[in-house]
Amino acid sequence: MEKEKEISQYYDKAKTVLIAEEEVKAAVKKAGEWIDGIYDGRPILLVSILKGAFVFLADLCRAVRVPCEIGFMCAKSYYSGTQSSGVVQITMDLSQDISGYHVVIVEDIIDTGRTLNDVVKLLKARKPLSLRVVTLLDKPSRRIVDFKADYSLFTIPDEFVVGYGLDCAEQYRGLPYIGVFKE
Ligand code: IMP
Ligand code: MG
Repeated sequence: MEKEKEISQYYDKAKTVLIAEEEVKAAVKKAGEWIDGIYDGRPILLVSILKGAFVFLADLCRAVRVPCEIGFMCAKSYYSGTQSSGVVQITMDLSQDISGYHVVIVEDIIDTGRTLNDVVKLLKARKPLSLRVVTLLDKPSRRIVDFKADYSLFTIPDEFVVGYGLDCAEQYRGLPYIGVFKE
């Protein structure tokens, strides 16, 4: 009984649905069509920034028809005050040399913009054939570094969200919808 109560309290903190499962599904399908339209049969490399984007990547790679490969990287951005240092620490790097690829970075959310700004700089220096950024969520009101994705599925208000890969202290990544986290 105690266990049941704990579990229900856990879900209660994320029960406000911001984007329902069906809405996410429909938007991912459209994002897949956008990618197909751009690359027109050319092979691409979908690069997921771990961990938050793993669920989105899993669905997106099944929504595209162009031949695609998958890559993972783990990145941490360091900065002081409001300035991005431009120094990104890669805690896990891609295993591919990306110079022969059309790269699509797949991100969960753009908040201040620091992480992606640094990752894009770093990957561009490796001379891919092209590079674009697709993000599931965008919180433009929080931006510190001027950064814009090429494709954003949802623009959301300044709320802390969880689910569909996004976490709060590593939890809630498995929720099928995107919910607002409330302590
Ligand atoms: P930024 O754009 O460099 O500030 O960082 C974006 C990263 O912060 C994302 O990849 C997420 O891991 C994390 N993040 C930002 N906002 C949220 C949120 O609302 N929920 C969960 N993670 C978030
Ligand atoms: Mg992330």
